[in-house]
Amino acid sequence: MPIDIKSPREIEAMRAAGAMAAETLLLVGEKIRAGMTTEEINHLVHEDTVRRGAKPAPLNYRGFPKSVCTSVNHVVCHGIPDKKTVLRDGDIVNVDVTTIHQGFHGDTSATFYIGVPSPEGRKVTEVARQALEIGIAQVKEGGRIGDIGAAIQEYVEAQGCSVVRDFVGHGIGRKFHEDPQVKHYGRRGTGERMKAGMTFTIEPMVNVGHWEVVVDPKDKWTVTTADGSLSAQFEHTILVTKTGPEVLTKRLKPLRMSENVVAVFA
Ligand code: MF3
Ligand code: CO
Ligand code: CO
Repeated sequence: MPIDIKSPREIEAMRAAGAMAAETLLLVGEKIRAGMTTEEINHLVHEDTVRRGAKPAPLNYRGFPKSVCTSVNHVVCHGIPDKKTVLRDGDIVNVDVTTIHQGFHGDTSATFYIGVPSPEGRKVTEVARQALEIGIAQVKEGGRIGDIGAAIQEYVEAQGCSVVRDFVGHGIGRKFHEDPQVKHYGRRGTGERMKAGMTFTIEPMVNVGHWEVVVDPKDKWTVTTADGSLSAQFEHTILVTKTGPEVLTKRLKPLRMSENVVAVFA
């Protein structure tokens, strides 16, 4: 499929959907703490989304049973919230919010610290956060999608971490996942040319150890690192404009990542 170019009206709708997803993620940052279950995060996201007159995209998406993904420690992505997963001091947890508003999707995630993270947990989270920032900085009309992944991979590997290969960023709009695929690794000068009006996510998953991952054979969703090492991720939905990237899921307040840590960017 050719990459969809959004019309000015569609871009307005994408801005609204992105802003909602961003606000819900901010709310998660305000509430998340040790002792909560991931099911409680799910409830919070579900209720906040519905209250805005929007829909949580994950719910029933290809059979996904919940309204948000919650991925704790060595879970890379697509963690399913449940009542028995209690967040504990030292955990890192990615919360991935996708909101559908007036038919358009906004998709954004952040990794939060529960209490005080281990040095490794802090490192991988900080590298993932910076990797997203570096990826966004590559977005410009006429540039190549592959430039994004190349810049991310160079940075992440220089930090001694690895980039997950099996899951990628994606075009987004009326559909949750559209073309193009946005790899978080690869070579500069490859991939499609970016054009104003394209909307896609950048969402690097960064592992402390090896990049290989395993999908849970039972639930068919939960993705973990093959070596059991910690993994972190941040995601934004981006619009390509004539003058560079516009972050559609940009937060209007700093993100509270934990009791003492506030993200300056991403
Ligand atoms: N939000 C994820 C992404 O960034 C996709 C989750 S699919 C789900 O692409 F079904 F697990 F919600
Ligand atoms: Co996404
Ligand atoms: Co997402």
